[in-house]
Amino acid sequence: MIEVKIKSEEKSYPIIIENEAISDLREKIFANLENYLVVISAKVEKLYGKQLNIPKERKFVLKDGEKEKNFKNFKKILDHALKLKLTRKSTIVAIGGGVVGDLAGFCASTYMRGIDFIQVPTTLLACVDSSVGGKTAIDTSFGKNLIGTFYQPKAVYINPRFLKTLDERQFKTGLGEVIKYSFIEKSCMYEEELNLTNFLNTEDIRDEKVLAKLIEICIKLKKSVVEKDEKESSLRRILNFGHTYGHAVEKITNYKKFTHGEAVVEGMRFAFELALKQNLIDKNYKFLADDIMKKFDFRKIPKYKMEKMIELMLMDKKSNGKTITFILPTGYSTVDAFDLSADSIYMASSK
Ligand code: GLY
Repeated sequence: MIEVKIKSEEKSYPIIIENEAISDLREKIFANLENYLVVISAKVEKLYGKQLNIPKERKFVLKDGEKEKNFKNFKKILDHALKLKLTRKSTIVAIGGGVVGDLAGFCASTYMRGIDFIQVPTTLLACVDSSVGGKTAIDTSFGKNLIGTFYQPKAVYINPRFLKTLDERQFKTGLGEVIKYSFIEKSCMYEEELNLTNFLNTEDIRDEKVLAKLIEICIKLKKSVVEKDEKESSLRRILNFGHTYGHAVEKITNYKKFTHGEAVVEGMRFAFELALKQNLIDKNYKFLADDIMKKFDFRKIPKYKMEKMIELMLMDKKSNGKTITFILPTGYSTVDAFDLSADSIYMASSK
């Protein structure tokens, strides 16, 4: 069993990583819960419902897909919690990927002004990113994650066995974020060197022991960042490496064509090109980075019209409408934030 403690302004919480029978995990989660509601992904319910053995009336089964992270389901979950007479001493448990965790976390943070929240991430993406750091959210027609809170869970239970049933594409979308951590590792300022890049060369990356270690490294890196800057006023921005351009790829394709991880990988490629043109890095580092990304054979993303991409990036909630904050590589496993004007991005990308 691996335990990583995350300290936050409001509370500290453990992240427990353990390869164990799903029924044993169940015992651990529910042992001391008085009254609770479980928000569970439909896919996970189908595959693991029997082993999890959650009473029907305590389950809210959420269909899969980003479009489910909406106001309607927010209301439905709160109504369900009210029907079950959840009190301030009760708990909302999320079992699923990032959509389930973000939505259930938002419900937990608003129900009676905040009740306990337990996360059980079941995708690689959720294990290494969205279940750590307390971001909760729902989407609106104006954009993704525009309504939300910072709300820390009581505990996060990670069981890499859930990842066995992830299809290759979903697994790779998580790997996109893992690769991101390898490019930002030194800037995360973790107390010791974790050498994620070397680890990415491990042959059997889907082995549950390898995965437990991989997840542990990513979580330690994220811990280091969010403990220094919980509310994203400075350092936490580095976690957006690859996301500025990546979000524009997702938007231009209506969130339908590429997974989040695929878009982030394309965003990292764009950032490496930009950094090379701005003389922030040398060619060798760019080639090395390209090799790492090529190794996992992500779906190829076409080059979209730069004018349109810039327009979308300027509309991003993290932009001030005039400049775009890019996280760019500055050296081996280091990155920094740069505010770039639309003109300078356009010029650098057409050079
Ligand atoms: N996913 C980026 C962050 O948690 O800040």
